[in-house]
Amino acid sequence: MAILPIITYPDPFLKEKTNPVTDINDDIKKLIADMADTMYEAPGVGLAANQVGMDKSIIVFDPEADKENRPYQVLINPEIISQEGEYLSENEGCLSVPDFRSDVKRAEFAVVTGLDLQGNPVKIEAQGLLSVILQHEIDHLNGILFIDRISSLKRSIYKRKIKKQLRDNE
Ligand code: NI
Repeated sequence: MAILPIITYPDPFLKEKTNPVTDINDDIKKLIADMADTMYEAPGVGLAANQVGMDKSIIVFDPEADKENRPYQVLINPEIISQEGEYLSENEGCLSVPDFRSDVKRAEFAVVTGLDLQGNPVKIEAQGLLSVILQHEIDHLNGILFIDRISSLKRSIYKRKIKKQLRDNE
């Protein structure tokens, strides 16, 4: 069991696009297990590899945040191949954006492809909360945070707050 440090805004690494995994080797499997530990400990419903400082296209998620049974899923090199409809994700938050929540406009349905831990192709047709989690985590892999998807006014309020915190901690 290893809990990894989660990097937070405004760390520029969160804005970088991740690279695809080409070989699901033991290092990758260890990283995935550690990501799951980190997600359940946080606790969160999803985590992307670049949130723990790894330049890899990997997400783990569990909409139930069921720390006891840990029925998490992993997707390697996930991609949204289609999305449809509108869904207001209420009070969305992110482990990399502490102490801030906002409503975010998302798609209601998303079809996501990727690989499982064994390298087998997976296709998930997601709706509602699961769809939002997948959109949020895949955004991470593309260097996008949920605060990039809210109004610029709300975003600037958050950015000012963070700048003040950083100044106060100097
Ligand atoms: Ni997040």
